Amino acid sequence: MSGESPPAEETARMMGGEEEEGGSEAVAERGDPAVEGEGPLVRAVILSGFGGPSKLGVSRQTAACPGPGELRILVKACGVGFLDVLVRQGNVDPQPRTPLVPGYECAGVVDALGEGVRDFEVGHRVAAVVNLGAWAEVTVARADHVFRLRDSMSFVEGAALPISYLAAHLMLFDMGGLREGMSVLVHSAGGGVGLAVAQLCASVPRVTLLGTASLAKHDVIRDSFTHVIDRTGDYVQDVKRVCPGGVDIVLDCLCGENTAKGLALLKPMGTYILYGSSNVVTGETKSFFSFAKSWWQVEKVSPVRLYEENKRMGGFQLLPLLFSAEGPARARRAMSEITTLYDSGAVRPRVDSVWALEEVKEAMQKLLDRSNIGRVVLDTEKSPSPQGDRHSPEASEAAEEEDAEGDGEGGAESKERKPFIR
Ligand SMILES: NC(=O)c1ccc[n+]([C@@H]2O[C@H](COP(=O)([O-])OP(=O)(O)OC[C@H]3O[C@@H](n4cnc5c(N)ncnc54)[C@H](OP(=O)(O)O)[C@@H]3O)[C@@H](O)[C@H]2O)c1
Repeated sequence: MSGESPPAEETARMMGGEEEEGGSEAVAERGDPAVEGEGPLVRAVILSGFGGPSKLGVSRQTAACPGPGELRILVKACGVGFLDVLVRQGNVDPQPRTPLVPGYECAGVVDALGEGVRDFEVGHRVAAVVNLGAWAEVTVARADHVFRLRDSMSFVEGAALPISYLAAHLMLFDMGGLREGMSVLVHSAGGGVGLAVAQLCASVPRVTLLGTASLAKHDVIRDSFTHVIDRTGDYVQDVKRVCPGGVDIVLDCLCGENTAKGLALLKPMGTYILYGSSNVVTGETKSFFSFAKSWWQVEKVSPVRLYEENKRMGGFQLLPLLFSAEGPARARRAMSEITTLYDSGAVRPRVDSVWALEEVKEAMQKLLDRSNIGRVVLDTEKSPSPQGDRHSPEASEAAEEEDAEGDGEGGAESKERKPFIR
């Protein structure tokens, strides 16, 4: 369940200095003069330990300077995805050390170049994937994990782009071998990755695309899919009705019992790709039972069955891939095709909602409530809405309940381990 992952020190360097005391009230102005000899003080979301929403806050950090091969980005917007929920809860293995600045993707303007960086200039508009540390006014990224943004693309759209579209593109084309006339099943169809899959599938002729999603999203996303299926119903029967012989590609971000179902729905020579474990999330904090149950159901898959049935099973994780030797070149090729599709109008990142850094709890709650359609985005320049508007009674109750339950697994004392996403 693990793979090649970036060194922990790399993450620690993303935000240079120690966390400073102070919540959103104590937030510094962007680019505050720093203590002599250090970088500027900038606002950042801090995850103080693993658990519920109360573990998230905004504080000041000293921005890091870019090292060799890195560049510094003045972050304008950052994407919030389901991976961030897993990190908050401590549902990733291995777990990073807290406190940390969460966030894996952002868009902004290049602010400083490290030694040896050639393809970028200060002032370039970019999107980036980082190994945590994105949810801040300033972050540092490896230059080969950074992509130029078209002038016509807003920073908010740019922040919704890299992880969803790179994951979707690499899974569909590099792993799944998507081509004309194939059929694809994807879960969480109305989410960031789900809608990226839909737009990329639409760029290939005659692809039959089936997606499962909560019923409330169906009217909005129906036109992007051949068939949208209620996630609470018996989707196996629904898929068989549309594709009696099975599908060519199953993209499974749910894990657990869906692994066996996905493999059963494959045509011979079809490809099942496991790329997430959303089923491990059953509440505000980590459930050891859901975690164990989900992964146990994957581990009992028999390679002999795959051999007998001519089926292929694969796994995909973007971040470890990006930190592998060939990953950046692969991602660059994929991003170049995604950009061409953006130019043609075929790719348009869908943004569900935009929030201030101080509203990170509410932003994340949209994912847990299953109410997002597209990417949830944090805008570093946005002011929070008045308290009364942004705290729903449900969100407050959930936070109180979680506080009563305790910290969940992990916390500041958790072991230092390599950051890793699932
Ligand atoms: N391997 C990789 O490199 C990679 C990269 C990016 C994302 N991912 C994975 O891809 C999946 C989608 O990610 P995303 O960032 O685009 O998020 P997303 O789909 O926007 O996530 C929110 C949606 O997930 C669905 N969901 C499924 N199980 C859930 C649960 N237990 N609790 C709450 N919601 C649940 C809900 O939609 P419905 O109710 O409509 O189903 C919800 O609206 C996640 O599993 C994520 O971990 C993997």
